[in-house]
Amino acid sequence: MNRVLGTSVNRKDGLAKVTGQATYTTEHQLSGLVQGYLITATIANGRIRAITTQAAERAPGVLAVVTHQNMPKVFTPANDFRNSKLHEARLPLSDDQIHYAGQIVALVVANTLEQAREAAQLVAIEYEAQPPLVDPQRASYQELPDITFSQGNGADQSGISLEATYTTAKELHAAMEPHAIIAHWQGDSLTVYEGSQWVMLHQRTYAELFGIPSEKVRLVTPYIGGAFGSKCFPWSYSVLCAAVARQMNRPLKLVVTRRQLTTNTGHRAATEQTLRLAAMPDGKLITIDHTVKTYTSPSDRFIVDCTATTPVMYAAPNLRLQQELSVLNVATPTYMRAPSENPGMWALESAMDELAWKLNLDPVYLRLKNETTTHQRTGLPFSSKHLADCLWVGAERFGWRDRPKQPRHLARDGQLVGWGMAAATFPAMRGNTTVKVRLLPDDTVHILTSGNDMGTGAYTMVAMTAAEALGVPIENIQVELGDSRFPDGGLAGGSQMTASLAPAVLKACQEVLKAAKCSTATHACAALKQSGRAAFEATASSAPSEDAQKWAFQSWGAHFCEVRVDEELGRVRVTRWVSVMDIGRVINAKAAASQVRGSVIMGIGEALMEECQLDPESGCPVVYDLATYHYPSHADIPRIDVTFVGKPDLTFNPLGVRGVGEVGITGVAAAVANAIYHATGKRFRQLPITPDKLMG
Ligand code: MOS
Repeated sequence: MNRVLGTSVNRKDGLAKVTGQATYTTEHQLSGLVQGYLITATIANGRIRAITTQAAERAPGVLAVVTHQNMPKVFTPANDFRNSKLHEARLPLSDDQIHYAGQIVALVVANTLEQAREAAQLVAIEYEAQPPLVDPQRASYQELPDITFSQGNGADQSGISLEATYTTAKELHAAMEPHAIIAHWQGDSLTVYEGSQWVMLHQRTYAELFGIPSEKVRLVTPYIGGAFGSKCFPWSYSVLCAAVARQMNRPLKLVVTRRQLTTNTGHRAATEQTLRLAAMPDGKLITIDHTVKTYTSPSDRFIVDCTATTPVMYAAPNLRLQQELSVLNVATPTYMRAPSENPGMWALESAMDELAWKLNLDPVYLRLKNETTTHQRTGLPFSSKHLADCLWVGAERFGWRDRPKQPRHLARDGQLVGWGMAAATFPAMRGNTTVKVRLLPDDTVHILTSGNDMGTGAYTMVAMTAAEALGVPIENIQVELGDSRFPDGGLAGGSQMTASLAPAVLKACQEVLKAAKCSTATHACAALKQSGRAAFEATASSAPSEDAQKWAFQSWGAHFCEVRVDEELGRVRVTRWVSVMDIGRVINAKAAASQVRGSVIMGIGEALMEECQLDPESGCPVVYDLATYHYPSHADIPRIDVTFVGKPDLTFNPLGVRGVGEVGITGVAAAVANAIYHATGKRFRQLPITPDKLMG
């Protein structure tokens, strides 16, 4: 064995990316390509009374103007996550109704982007506007019975309780690579170049939309410049582009502009959560009561399940979970890095801190005291749980024991300093995947699967797993991902790509050696040369075992941080950060730490700056690009110390790996708010904690 697993390996795709060799969606060169430009609604509720396109149609270079009046027919997909799935269920341009500001109302196609954009200004739209409902406080709510859960009789027995309401803001994914598509029809075959976290489902969805077999659709997405959950399925712009490209019989490119990304490619929905905790004076929890309000758009039903992690964190004889949903004239929300777990942990980990202060207990101790060994909703025991190790090791590395036990007791250079901590968790999931491995006479090993790399490091993870299994240098392994012509590699989402793919890579490599009757690839290559054959090849699949039904799989972590607060300017600086994560076995220590750092940075943004506000009157976003949407830059972020427990979770899969894309963001915002409380004595329950709130 090479002992590759667990080491720090540079990205296989790193050089290609920094030298511009990696081909992103819009960089695929096709002859005869024409360009699209979207027109989006300037009202947030109502209908289109009239839309006048003649002037645009006569403009130079214009080939088509598509509105709800001449939208080509597409079929309604099953939208069931198995056969097909759209990010937004309402099909584009399906009628004259406007459900939110920024909704797509037309597509202009021209020979050049400039011509299409110019002509878009000539389309005149008359709206019949209704007052939009964008304020969650004014909305009416419906209970979500699937989320309702209750155990215990509700009797508290103790006087020490806490009730508080926490809110999170509407957040944008703000990926570096904007959403875009090139749709290319050749006869009744469609090739789609588009970022996709789930290549085969994406492929099947286009097949359903156009009533053609899946084999007639090819999806090409070798590189993705960030997705964070927003590139799982086709969006409305994708459906529209593919439909119009077919009608025109021309390859059509459509790039969603930064402004249009705000409303047409999802966001993290704002949430309001009320937590009531009750505990004995020694810290033993008696009650957790978590109630949630979230919204969806009129065009789809998306639910941010904020209570998802509440039953896995702390044992409570009385546990009550409840959620209500409203419908607002707001663009369709979607998954964003730990979509349910991140907002849920913000509220729970803030409330735990408040309770610790109330009980005069160390918040680390309070968490240890209330650990649960089972998932309280399903009753299943955790396969592997080292949350306590994360808390102990994190506290040690941070120096937590020296913490002043009073708020407003630390200062440096005339500014207040505070320390905070929070726990982290995210479920471990695993899907069905298939991988093909090919050993060639030139000593290279090729690995092919549709599963892909949205920037997380999947190319490197696959190569490392194969290098370990075959006993060859990682440089000899070539990995090809993100093409529906390859075997089904499953979903790059829910932090499951590594856990799903690595076992299939391992198995396929072992089968190649078996086929070659050799113990290492070096021997196999010699055997290959003597055999006169072109390649030894194997395809293998991996799926969760039935045994898995008996366990709850979950990753864990702890964050510790220091903030410096300038009360006069209302400015918070995060000056120190320690994260310890239990993610099972770590495959690439460098990439895994990088995932946690990225998560912490994103969480600091959520805590202190990120918010997409809407104008309360018009319902239009007043934040719409990378300048108006504030998120952290290098100067906002300290060195982030990341370590892993590293104990393999072999009940979960043969390699014992669980995945690391999302667990690192959970708890981050709470750790920051908890540190701000320690610094200032002021509790902030509304994100983001911006200067106006700090000074208010
Ligand atoms: Mo993720 S939010 O499952 O990409």
